[in-house]
Amino acid sequence: MDQAEQLRNVIKMNPAPKPLARVITVTSGKGGVGKSNTSINLACQFKNMGYRVIILDADFGLANIEIMFGAVPRHNLSDLIYEGKDITEIITWGPMDIGFISGGSGIANMSNLSHEYLNCIIQNLAKLDANADIIIIDTGAGISDAVLDFLVASGEILVVTTPEPTSITDSYSLLKALNQHPRFSRENSSIKIVANKVSGEIEGEVMYSKLNTVVSKYLNLPVSYLGAIPQDRRLEEAVMQQMPVSMQSPNSRSAIAFEKMAYALVDKEYDKPSVKRGMAAFFSHIIAGSKKMG
Ligand SMILES: Nc1ncnc2c1ncn2[C@@H]1O[C@H](COP(=O)(O)OP(=O)(O)O)[C@@H](O)[C@H]1O
Ligand SMILES: [Mg+2]
Repeated sequence: MDQAEQLRNVIKMNPAPKPLARVITVTSGKGGVGKSNTSINLACQFKNMGYRVIILDADFGLANIEIMFGAVPRHNLSDLIYEGKDITEIITWGPMDIGFISGGSGIANMSNLSHEYLNCIIQNLAKLDANADIIIIDTGAGISDAVLDFLVASGEILVVTTPEPTSITDSYSLLKALNQHPRFSRENSSIKIVANKVSGEIEGEVMYSKLNTVVSKYLNLPVSYLGAIPQDRRLEEAVMQQMPVSMQSPNSRSAIAFEKMAYALVDKEYDKPSVKRGMAAFFSHIIAGSKKMG
């Protein structure tokens, strides 16, 4: 056996592992607390760090991401089925080359789709692992079955909360519903709290400790604190201009806070296999559940 042949055999025996994307799901108990801003700005920061990022907009009510991007997507997930498109054709590439997929009604009605159609979606979404290092899913707010399905399937959940008492209690209710979900696995999930619209670091820590006190006492659910984003007029201005603040005002307090948060996410557990489950596993999980229930 010559050397080249030997090498070929080695390669055959050890095929390169299929890369899996890290899937991060951003959610909240209450609307308007900053989920879409968190999703898009973390995407910008990850992109700055050299990762390929795709955002899946799974907020069926308000298609926020596209407005904040200033880019109108021509397709959404249901075009995979009804138009026979390939997933790579329905990705809109926005500023900074951040990919963006509109969920449309394709995801909202997933449990009503036939097996054949579901397979089509799963196979397509699995291809995203080859197109992104990090996939961020921006969900709707509140405790709906569709949101809980996403959260149960996620290895990694960011719960955006503001210091408003109603935001803290709504986050608690969301975590309670998640904890009671028959398919939720606390061992395989990592739940991180993001404090948004705070006056400073201390207000963020106080907010987290209020939430964590009730979560650990009544739910016995492990959550951790990811960090705080200050209330920032520059962020509001950026929203008005349909630009992520991380692009429009990279030196603003909020953009710097998002940068810090992105680094914290990457430092802590980028290489943990539990968080790099990939997109195929993610959606098989959703579908396994919806079939059992339906
Ligand atoms: N850190 C912040 N500083 C100032 N305003 C903010 C901040 N985060 C969010 N907002 C305001 O709240 C609004 C809602 O944010 P958004 O990210 O769309 O929330 P959600 O997606 O949770 O509904 C934004 O349009 C913006 O005006
Ligand atoms: Mg939103």
